[in-house]
Amino acid sequence: MRDVDYSGSRWIPPARPNKEGVLSVVPSPILEARDVNLLFHTGGETLHVLRDVCFALQPGEVASVVGPSGSGKTSLLMVLAGLEKATSGVVSIDGTDIEALDEDGLAIFRRNNFGILFQNFHLIPSMTALENVAFTLEIAHPTRPYADIRRAALDALAEVGLKERAGHFPSALSGGEQQRVGLARAIVGEPRILLADEPTGNLDQATGASVIEQMFSLARGRGTAILLITHDLRLAARADRTLSMNQGRLEEVTVNREVMA
Ligand SMILES: Nc1ncnc2c1ncn2[C@@H]1O[C@H](COP(=O)(O)OP(=O)(O)O)[C@@H](O)[C@H]1O
Ligand SMILES: [Mg+2]
Repeated sequence: MRDVDYSGSRWIPPARPNKEGVLSVVPSPILEARDVNLLFHTGGETLHVLRDVCFALQPGEVASVVGPSGSGKTSLLMVLAGLEKATSGVVSIDGTDIEALDEDGLAIFRRNNFGILFQNFHLIPSMTALENVAFTLEIAHPTRPYADIRRAALDALAEVGLKERAGHFPSALSGGEQQRVGLARAIVGEPRILLADEPTGNLDQATGASVIEQMFSLARGRGTAILLITHDLRLAARADRTLSMNQGRLEEVTVNREVMA
């Protein structure tokens, strides 16, 4: 039997004995949401988009979220990344409550902690693959010499198998290649958390699966935590655990794979 609490949507990792037989302290989550609610007021109507969401992601853990269109998955990602402010509740990253940060502080915090992968790739069409990846670092580290940035961007492109395509513009790349550039851009800053919102939504099954495999293997090698939103149940099951979003409620934790504490 594993010592895991599956109650509600709150997941608690198993405590494991160390060499001396002492139960280790449960690691603190890298990303946590507590009782998060999100309401939108539009045209005299109130839309309750996230309802009492509790969620915790441990360092290096891979979680997937499935759920019908309009259930609140993208809204969850926006709130977790600090791109949308929760109406109530707390979001914390590595123990820091993001509410406590001002706009600039939040932007820096986001850059240092998150890599984000989008369904539509969001590459800048007038920039080459290399420039798209390098741009992220230029913004994050304005004083870093460009030669360093270029090298890091080329290394990231090499990791996704696209070093030879570094000088190509997005329009010259296939969908799968564009998303791999997106992946290189997401990991180049060595984020601790990767958020991916239906990253395979515009790719065929095989291409999507290969991008996800690459994302998981890069993240596992670096100890990066992943939150993957996907419609593809086969891909969702490749995560350590799967949660489902229904009408703003995050629930039903399925453990797909033993998580190493
Ligand atoms: N900025 C916004 N203003 C008003 N309603 C919004 C806004 N963003 C999302 N919504 C609504 O919130 C609900 C959840 O949307 P979303 O999080 O995009 O769902 P999903 O990603 O699961 O398809 C939808 O009903 C959507 O119309
Ligand atoms: Mg969405």
